[in-house]
Order: sequence, then structure tokens, then C-alpha cells
Amino acid sequence: MKALVIHTAFGLENLALLDRPDPTPGAGQVLIRVRAASLNYRDLLIARGMYNPKLQFPRTLGSDAAGEVVAIGSGVTQFKPGDRVANCFMPHWFDGPITESVAKSTLGSDRDGVIAELAVFEERGLVRYPDHLSFEEAATLPCAAVTAWNALTEAKTGPGTTVLLQGTGGVSIFALQLAKALGARVFITSSSDDKLSRAIALGADSGTNYKTNPDWEKWARQQTNGTGVDVVVEVGGAGTLDRSLKAAKYGGHVALIGVLAGTGTFNPMLILMKAIRVQGVFVGSRAMFEAMNNLIAEKQLRPIIDRVFPFSEAPAAFRHLESGAHFGKVVIRM
Ligand SMILES: NC(=O)c1ccc[n+]([C@@H]2O[C@H](COP(=O)([O-])OP(=O)(O)OC[C@H]3O[C@@H](n4cnc5c(N)ncnc54)[C@H](OP(=O)(O)O)[C@@H]3O)[C@@H](O)[C@H]2O)c1
Repeated sequence: MKALVIHTAFGLENLALLDRPDPTPGAGQVLIRVRAASLNYRDLLIARGMYNPKLQFPRTLGSDAAGEVVAIGSGVTQFKPGDRVANCFMPHWFDGPITESVAKSTLGSDRDGVIAELAVFEERGLVRYPDHLSFEEAATLPCAAVTAWNALTEAKTGPGTTVLLQGTGGVSIFALQLAKALGARVFITSSSDDKLSRAIALGADSGTNYKTNPDWEKWARQQTNGTGVDVVVEVGGAGTLDRSLKAAKYGGHVALIGVLAGTGTFNPMLILMKAIRVQGVFVGSRAMFEAMNNLIAEKQLRPIIDRVFPFSEAPAAFRHLESGAHFGKVVIRM
């Protein structure tokens, strides 16, 4: 089979579609014909050597796939050939709190990933996804959507709560769709006025351009009559955290997810004097994935796909994600 592999050295120039042995399912395992995979910012970090410097070459990349079951190993009871499934980002995190061992079970870094024609998963590392979704749409869910869901639900997002989102990448656009479905008021930033218009068309209550309005934390407070927001979905990291803490209300919640904004400093006094809960988020469990799927099915939500690349152009999909031109998710179709 063909797989998208980083071989010999880090760097997007070292991505290639290579022949790798066809996998076969062992006991308790399921063989999937991958029909679509989606990219995350993490895949760029991995390919550049900034996520796992000890990565063993060659490595098949990718953590998010959807496809159909083609064969099952002995003892598999939940799936049969023909079933449509998506994989969990951490195949060993079923429910409950995260542990060190489940956090080390991620795909496309320490172990081979899913951007390949075939992939084997443990039965318990797969979920069924809502019937109304295509393979391409389902492939967007395992990392970005589950991360947004975990962040919002841990923060008790619900009717009447206020949520601040940063940028219009994969996690933030899922957070927009899910927060609106949960009944929240949503404010969003972007470097692009055009993307802000698209976010508002999707349901955001208001938006501001963080390039032309670098004091977006003041804007966010104005949206809440000076109180501050209940929840910040913080994908910028050190470079945005100080402003996020200023944007949050007293007793608010900052879900710490990403590293997009590079380096920066923040004032810990804001956390303690405003009694803000800063919660690290690392994707989520299979139980979270399934709970999110229930809401996606109930509300008939459809993931926002910016662009679908054919498998033969997979390296170009990485470069498109790197450009930051996208809105929502970038997908590869097998
Ligand atoms: N902890 C976890 O479990 C977890 C899971 C998923 C992702 N992540 C992390 O979360 C972050 C987002 O991931 P993603 O896959 O959604 O990325 P992505 O799709 O590549 O998002 C890129 C977008 O982020 C926005 N952005 C970039 N710099 C920004 C800044 N300084 N301030 C505000 N927005 C900025 C831009 O939106 P505009 O073009 O609109 O400006 C850009 O287009 C990454 O750091 C990723 O590693 C973490």
C-alpha cells in the first residue's frame, strides 16, 4: 500500500508517498480502508521536527482518518466489514481522566499514523460516526473537534455562557459550531476580515481582526459589558495567554490548547486575583468523541472543510495548512 511518510529527515520537503507493507489485523484489531484523512497543526510540527525530535524514520504521518472496515481479527465483536468508522486520536483513552500511558498512544508520531491506503486499529480505538457525514467530514473529527468539545464541556459551556475563540483554524471553527450548538454566545478573532464574515455567517455573534485590533482582549470585554468572557479557547499559547487572561471574567475558564502565537510572557497575578481556572486540554477520550457525535447527529452539524486534496497531492495539503490561508479543516481524500 501507499502511505504518506516522512523519511530520512525532518522538513516538508522530505514528505513522500512510499510503498509500505499492507497491515493485517491481529486479535482484537480491525483493518480499515482509509477513505479520507484530515490534517492538524500538529502534523506540521511533527514534520518540522518540533513535536517529537526523537521520531523514528520512516514514519507514516497523520492522526485523523475515516474509512470502511475491510477485515476483522479474532475476537472483534463491535465492527464488521463495510462499517464506516473514524479512529480515536488516542486509541487507548476510553473514558475518565487522561493518564500518562494513554497520552503516549497517539498516532502519527511515536507510532505510524493514518495517511495511508490501509490502517489497522484496535477495536476499542474506533467509533461509529453520524450517518449524515461523508468520509471527508468524518475524518475531520478525531483531533480538532474532540479537542474543542473537551475544552467547551470541561468549561461547562451552555446556554447563555460566553466563549472567546482565536483565529479560524480547525479547532476554533469546531469550537464555534459546537459552542453555538450548546447555546453559548461566541466571539471570534481572525487576521482576515473575510474569514470573520464567514465565521459570523456560521453563527459567531461578533468578531474582530487581531492584526488591526491588537487589543482584542478589550474588545472581548466590551462584548460582555465589561465583565469578561466565561470561556477562552486558547489556541495561541504563550503569545496570546496574557490577553486571554485579561479577556476572561473573574472566575472564568481558559482552556489551554495550542501554540500558534509563539513565545510570550504572562502575568500569573491575573490567574490568582481573578480566580481563573486554566485547564490544559489534550484532545479527548473515546467517550467524549461519542458524546460529541450525539450532538453532531442531533443538530445535523457539518464540519467546515476548506479544501480536499487528492492523496497523490498530500504534500501540497501540508503546504496549504502551513500557509494559514484555510478556514476550518484541510482534508486528503484517498
Ligand atoms: N492540545 C490539544 O489537544 C490540541 C489539539 C488540536 C490542536 N492543538 C493546537 O491548537 C492550535 C490550533 O490547531 P489547529 O489544528 O486548529 O490549527 P490550524 O487549523 O492550523 O489554525 C491556523 C489558524 O490559527 C489562527 N492563528 C494563527 N496565529 C494566531 C494568533 N497569533 N492569534 C490568533 N489566531 C491565530 C489563524 O487564523 P486566521 O487565519 O483566522 O487568523 C490560522 O489560520 C495548534 O497550536 C495546535 O497544535 C492542540
